[in-house]
This record gives sequence, structure tokens and C-alpha cells, in this order.
Amino acid sequence: MALLTCSDISLELGGRGILESVSLDVDAAEVVGLAGPNGAGKTSLFEVLSGRQLRHGGDVLLDGTSIRTLDMRRRVERGLVRSYQRPIVPGSLTVGETLKAARKAYQPQPSRLKVEWAVEFVRLRAQMEQPTGSLETLERRKLMLACLLLRDPRIVLLDEPASGLTGSEIDEIDLVVRKLSQEYGVAVLLIEHRLELLAMVAKRVLVLDVGRIIASGPPETVFLDEKVRQAYFDVPLSSGALDDRLTVVGDS
Ligand SMILES: Nc1ncnc2c1ncn2[C@@H]1O[C@H](COP(=O)(O)OP(=O)(O)OP(=O)(O)O)[C@@H](O)[C@H]1O
Ligand SMILES: [Mg+2]
Repeated sequence: MALLTCSDISLELGGRGILESVSLDVDAAEVVGLAGPNGAGKTSLFEVLSGRQLRHGGDVLLDGTSIRTLDMRRRVERGLVRSYQRPIVPGSLTVGETLKAARKAYQPQPSRLKVEWAVEFVRLRAQMEQPTGSLETLERRKLMLACLLLRDPRIVLLDEPASGLTGSEIDEIDLVVRKLSQEYGVAVLLIEHRLELLAMVAKRVLVLDVGRIIASGPPETVFLDEKVRQAYFDVPLSSGALDDRLTVVGDS
């Protein structure tokens, strides 16, 4: 049985259809990629899966049981956590103080040992005394990931964790996602425009376009799908404009 399933999800906002008949499942310890052009509905799907948006059609199940009516807090308690595309990190607190505040705020309260573990996990030890306002993008993402880890997740929904990062920085996000799934059995549903990350870490990728899933399968197949290239990249197969990115996919 899949860990997380959603079936036939539909969503309307402001009188417009945003999601239509979206179904997917994620197994325990699996990393699934979610790609698609800007405005395709990826973040909106996370709003539905995380329980932030409850006014939708269709069902969301965790371990085969509907969590359709549960709010975000209850879903977090069951091990379903998410990140935000633009995380808000208070600027004046240091990294250490932020983690301490998170520890105090979360129920059940994580142990100090768990905080230490999370800091080591994302490799943020050297920045503990640094104000969060002065963090580089990668370090900010790591802090966000550390906060998510304090919740003891079974599945993590990550919204573009690699956006704005350089190639070697993306490797660090790759490492964290890999370790989560391979060493700790945590499932990850990963929204990402950086196809090199999806190609490295996800065995299966779904592509959303105008609120519908238009392709799914291994990244090397999906990124070559003509429908995907038209919708996502808006370039015909013959243009060659994507050769660099697709080489990365082919090499994985
Ligand atoms: N609260 C809202 N009210 C009305 N329309 C909304 C609302 N939130 C999102 N939308 C619309 O829903 C569509 C999907 O947006 P969403 O943010 O889910 O896309 P996305 O795939 O995450 O895009 P991106 O890659 O740019 O992050 C967009 O057309 C957006 O304008
Ligand atoms: Mg988005």
C-alpha cells in the first residue's frame, strides 16, 4: 500500500479551475519528482496534500486512510510535513536560536538530541551563531530542512528546494534527500524546476500542466516526452535548446 495517495483531486480558486483529476501515490522511502511550467498547479497541489487547502474535490489518503478532513497540524502529527517556496526566516535570530524556538513551539516537543541530529544531518554546524538574515540561500534552505526534520516526518513535500542554487549547492540538497529516503525511510515528493536534481534523485517524475498530469515515469523518459517538452519547456524536440540539461538526465 502506498504511504500517500491522492485521487481525483480538483481545485477551483477565484472561479478558475486550478487542478483537475490529479491522482498520484508515493511509497514509503520513495522520492517522486513533480515538475511542470510556472502556474501549472504544483504548489496548489501541495496546499491540498498538506491540508492548508481543504476546499477541493477528491480524496487524500495516508496509509490507506482518508485524511481529507484533517487540518495541517493533524497531518503533521501523522508525519506529513511540507516546505514553502519562499520560507520566512526571522532575520535577527541566530540559526541556533531559531532551532531552539522551533523546538519549543513544536508539539510534541523534539529532544535537544534531535536538534543536534538535524543540524548534523543538513550540515549546518558552522552557521549556528550566524543571524538567519545573513545566511546564503543554501544555508537558509538547510535551516528550513532542519526545522522539518524536527517533526519526525514520514513524508516530506519539498517545494523547489534547489531554486537559485549553483550546481555544487544542488549536490548538497541531493545528499539530504537521498539520505532521508535511503537511510531513514522518509518519502519525499519534490517539486523542482531544476531537472538535474530530479534526474539525480527521483526514480519517478510526474509532470503537471494546466492543472493536469500529462506524463509520468522515469526522468530519462519523461523529459524526452514531446508533450512535456511542448508544455514545460515550450520548445520543440528539434530545437536542441535543452541538450545540456538532457545530457545530465542521460548520464544519471
Ligand atoms: N489563492 C489563489 N487564488 C486564485 N488563483 C490562484 C491562487 N493561488 C494560485 N492561483 C493560481 O493557480 C495557478 C497555479 O498556481 P501554483 O502556484 O500552484 O503554480 P506552480 O505550478 O506552483 O507555479 P510555479 O512553478 O511558478 O511555482 C496559477 O495560475 C495561479 O495564479
Ligand atoms: Mg509553485
